[in-house]
Amino acid sequence: MEKIIKPVKRITGEITVPGDKSISHRAIMIGSIACGTTKVKGIARSDDCDHTMNAFKAMGIGIKKDGALTIIKGKGLNGLSRPLGPVNTGNSGTTMRMLPGILGGQDFEATLTGDKGLLKRPMKRIVEPLCRMGIDIEAHKGGYPPLKIRGGAVKPIIYRMPIPSAQVKSAILFAGLYSKGETRVVEKFKSRDHTERMLYHFGADIKCGAKAVSIKGGRELAARSLEIPGDISSASFFIQAAVIIKGSRVKIKNVSINQTRAGILDVLVRMGAKVRVINKKKGFEPVGDIIAESSRTRGITIDSSMIPAIIDELPVIFVLAALSRGRTVIKGAGELRVKETDRISSMGYNLKRMGALFSVKGDNIIIDGVDKLAGARLDSFDDHRTCMAMAIAALAADGESMIKRTETVSKSFPGFFKSLDNLITR
Ligand code: S3P
Repeated sequence: MEKIIKPVKRITGEITVPGDKSISHRAIMIGSIACGTTKVKGIARSDDCDHTMNAFKAMGIGIKKDGALTIIKGKGLNGLSRPLGPVNTGNSGTTMRMLPGILGGQDFEATLTGDKGLLKRPMKRIVEPLCRMGIDIEAHKGGYPPLKIRGGAVKPIIYRMPIPSAQVKSAILFAGLYSKGETRVVEKFKSRDHTERMLYHFGADIKCGAKAVSIKGGRELAARSLEIPGDISSASFFIQAAVIIKGSRVKIKNVSINQTRAGILDVLVRMGAKVRVINKKKGFEPVGDIIAESSRTRGITIDSSMIPAIIDELPVIFVLAALSRGRTVIKGAGELRVKETDRISSMGYNLKRMGALFSVKGDNIIIDGVDKLAGARLDSFDDHRTCMAMAIAALAADGESMIKRTETVSKSFPGFFKSLDNLITR
């Protein structure tokens, strides 16, 4: 679906965003293998989370939606049943990469497949450590889906992560739940810790240090009730809009501000953006209300150690950098090449069409700020975050833009354009 986007005067108001996608996936997965009924408030209603729910339903787990609540009848660590056919995880990389850790502990064989975009995403990163744990996984040639997983006895390992990835870490921790002994994952740069927090909340024998996590297998998890905070990644597009559109101010309520995930807030402050968090609350995940206002930002250097905490917000940061004073250098962003699309290339293509000064040297990105972007014909490349970041850039541009394939936003945020419309003054 093509969408015409016209520049707007300003955006103002107060909103909530859908529940955090990463935390929602984990709530469904962990609730399904816990003992008893887990009640979750605020699971993201999105294509990706629906795929995770459908996967567990296909393996015999009762999952019902009741208003804002999702009720999951967990059957314990080994309670899943063999699915009747291949399990389709759609476009959801998180489902495809994390589920094999759980399937490795079941006593059946299952195949995970996905749509044509997902079939191009690398899976060696999980296949290699899970095979070392004794799980039998067959991937398509070159290490791509579909994945055929034969569960069985799982061995504990010590795994030093060659790339920072919360999905890989989570798959290993899930497999660790089924092993006899202690599994340890060591990270160079800490990736988002949602799995660790939720496993702890459900009673797993897990210990988290600054750079390493250890989990002991064999202990059943106990069902819990929990509330999913708003998604900082979805909130980031409204923060971006408020910062780059003159005269704007937006308040986004009840958003996850977990430090391993919300690095965008630190980046924005360093760039000189007027962004602050109020009403901070602690819980199994910390939350707060974010207020963002239009600001004149400056270019900065972002080191590769920051990348895991901003990986999904880099499209937003690219647009901000394109409209900041001076040069922004983002180091070590190579992982962006294996997201829903190659985001270095999709964002570079779109931003250059709008007149941004965007260049790439290896895994480093260099952006020199300009005063204004110009309306242009843009393409989401079927990537939800490229689409939303560019839609916001278009609101602040000179002249009209058109974006192709905007239906992709339903992957994480089906109501994105409607929520945006409610804040716009034309
Ligand atoms: C996610 C981890 C990140 C992120 C993805 C969701 C998760 O991927 O980009 O959108 O929920 O664990 P990687 O683990 O590949 O970095």
